[in-house]
Amino acid sequence: MTTAYVHDPVMVDEILAALVLKPGDVVVDGTLGLAGHSMRFIDAIRPGGVLVGLDWDESMLAIAKQRVGKPEGVTVHLVHSDFRDMKEVLVEYGLRPNGILLDLGLNSAQIEDPNRGITFKEDGPLDMRMDRSTGEPAAALLNRMSPQAIQDALEDFGDEKWAHRIAQKIVLRRKEQPLRTTNDLIECVLAAIPVNAREKRIHPATRTFQAVRILTNAEFDGLREAILDAASMLADKGNLAILSYHSGEDRIVKRAFQELAEEGFVLVDKKPRGPSEAEIGRNARSRSAKLRVIRKEVKL
Ligand SMILES: C[S@@+](CC[C@H](N)C(=O)[O-])C[C@H]1O[C@@H](n2cnc3c(N)ncnc32)[C@H](O)[C@@H]1O
Repeated sequence: MTTAYVHDPVMVDEILAALVLKPGDVVVDGTLGLAGHSMRFIDAIRPGGVLVGLDWDESMLAIAKQRVGKPEGVTVHLVHSDFRDMKEVLVEYGLRPNGILLDLGLNSAQIEDPNRGITFKEDGPLDMRMDRSTGEPAAALLNRMSPQAIQDALEDFGDEKWAHRIAQKIVLRRKEQPLRTTNDLIECVLAAIPVNAREKRIHPATRTFQAVRILTNAEFDGLREAILDAASMLADKGNLAILSYHSGEDRIVKRAFQELAEEGFVLVDKKPRGPSEAEIGRNARSRSAKLRVIRKEVKL
């Protein structure tokens, strides 16, 4: 792994301001990735603070462990875990965090690795799992799901208007030969979308690949529950910050925060915040980011 993958953590200054971390605080990075945010959290909570970092992808965790090392004055626990199990992890350590971050989705190191089959730019096995120790690869799902279920996933997770035709092509193709590689899926997409109807701005397979990735990793399942669980673990005056990059995901975050607000949590901003123009200029991936923050306030 090269440093080429060490990108700028998205909206890190806004997140640090929102989490108001101070020396001695406990902070949870539920989506550790390359530890971009976590490295800044460490500086904010030393001396005496505790960082818990979670990632369901072992290879991200290995890189993060190298980057974080053993920082002086801070206790660090980096754990291979789904953030949907954050509550159990925190109960095990007996911790109540002052700040929690979820930076949803995946990072360029994961997208660009052709062995994962997430990118359509290079041929590779059609796997797409973030956690290869569990679940079914994308190819296995597409080779067994009903055409309607495939169509629904393409519509719900990719806003793909050619979903019906793409699902039909997948089913036709797998009758002859099961799908195995990213190129197999690209061929189905290209056979489904007429040349003159293709969007110029993005590759015709962009929406399909995004949708199949979200489906394979069940990325939206249990997100609401995970948010409610995380919020319930916060210490008094603790903040939960969530960065999302997909409108469907942001909708789930927004609704979960509304539920929490009804229980007495404080919505830090009425509307989500986005990155500055300067950040978008530096890091195109930040363009679609939406940051929402909620604070726990125990009423006496
Ligand atoms: C956008 S990246 C985070 C980047 C990180 N904030 C940084 O600055 O380096 C998202 C990370 O969260 C992980 N991830 C996504 N969903 C997860 C889940 N449900 N549980 C644990 N980790 C998850 C991905 O594997 C990926 O490493």
